[in-house]
Amino acid sequence: IDIPREQWATRAGFILAAVGSAVGLGNIWRFPFLTAESGGAIFVLVYLLLVALIGLPVMLVEFVIGRRSERNPIGAFRRLGHPSWRFAGAIGAFAGFVILSYYSVVGGWVLQYIVASFSGGYGGDAELFFVETASGTNAIVSHAAFMGLVAGIVALGVREGLERAAKVMVPSVIVLLVILAGYGATLPNASTGYQFYLNPDVSTFASDAVSILPAAAGQAFFTLSLGMGVMITYSSYLGEDRDLLNDSIIIVVIDTFIAILAGLVVFPFLASQGVDLETGGGGAGAVFISLATAFESMPAGHLVGGLFFIMLAIAALSSAFSILEVVVSFVTDTFDVDRVPATIGLAAVIFVVGIPTATDLNYLDAYDLFANNILLIVGGLLLSIFIGWVYAPDALEELGQGRGGNGLFDTYWITVVRVVVPLVLLYTVYLAVVEYIEFLQGTFF
Ligand code: PHE
Ligand code: NA
Repeated sequence: IDIPREQWATRAGFILAAVGSAVGLGNIWRFPFLTAESGGAIFVLVYLLLVALIGLPVMLVEFVIGRRSERNPIGAFRRLGHPSWRFAGAIGAFAGFVILSYYSVVGGWVLQYIVASFSGGYGGDAELFFVETASGTNAIVSHAAFMGLVAGIVALGVREGLERAAKVMVPSVIVLLVILAGYGATLPNASTGYQFYLNPDVSTFASDAVSILPAAAGQAFFTLSLGMGVMITYSSYLGEDRDLLNDSIIIVVIDTFIAILAGLVVFPFLASQGVDLETGGGGAGAVFISLATAFESMPAGHLVGGLFFIMLAIAALSSAFSILEVVVSFVTDTFDVDRVPATIGLAAVIFVVGIPTATDLNYLDAYDLFANNILLIVGGLLLSIFIGWVYAPDALEELGQGRGGNGLFDTYWITVVRVVVPLVLLYTVYLAVVEYIEFLQGTFF
């Protein structure tokens, strides 16, 4: 049966929703701390290369699947005549399930930082404050609060409210980051931070690039919301008159710009606060600790901090919303359950699954590395193989829609999707699995 499909209410609606999904904790929390952990500028360089060479083409893969099928990831393959590929959608839903379980924990930290900003600050000792935030009852309760908010948004189906929130959030985040970056530039030792962040040692590029490939690829997928079907779902409501290439470039540029800007804030602060960047810069808490320290010292810092954390919470909520949507669609399409009970049940299960990560940062790393560096990459690999080797002629036709047919770029794109993306991602998965086993052995055994 062909029911005419509802489309985005406004021309900008799709971009706003996709940007709302992309911009989140990945840009402002995960990107800077991973950069600090992975050697600084060289990581930034590899990440940027991967965003352009792999991220953009894979985003187009998802857009083509979504718009062509007018379905979410699970229905999409059936609709395109290849129902056996549904397992790729299932892997994506599983990735979302794992990611949301700890994304919500970090979202909960942000909620606690909002409260603290407006009720007297971060206790004078930003490091201690972070430890208290990220452990025990505080972390579990705020995790529950964040999951509750996400589930509420999904259950109510208030997509338009979210589009409006993204419209305010993105420019506000940019303005706040620019102000903070300007303040950071005045700090003593800022240049040490910039040096570490922006000046790569290219003489060791080849060997460094291999060792950070899994982390950089995982971050490229995570930050662009790729590999789990979010972008398939969002583009399934797109009209044929839209230029997919144009839209994907806008989304990638905004997301990348915000991540780079976040680094320009965090690194001068870390350097001037005496954090030893060469030895990894402090892990998952570093960004929160350095920002709270900065807000404690800057003029009107608690107000700026409060606004900053509110915008970060909105960014995190719109990303988490997009993840839960995919997981809920998977469950309602696969089993015979309604949307609201599915949303509530899944939110409860995801909350419970995330509890270990609220009590121990090693678990958070374990979930995060598994979901990003392995599951998202495998998801992107499968989608690319499908488009490159099973569905290429139709995919090209779809990419040409709204752009007056195929051109040189389209030939480049399908070649990259057929050859480059699968080879790079296969190698990445191999490295990531080896690294993950070492991580588990080193951390838990
Ligand atoms: N892109 C989001 C961020 O950067 C996280 C995300 C990952 C959202 C995967 C959807 C899917 O915070
Ligand atoms: Na992002």
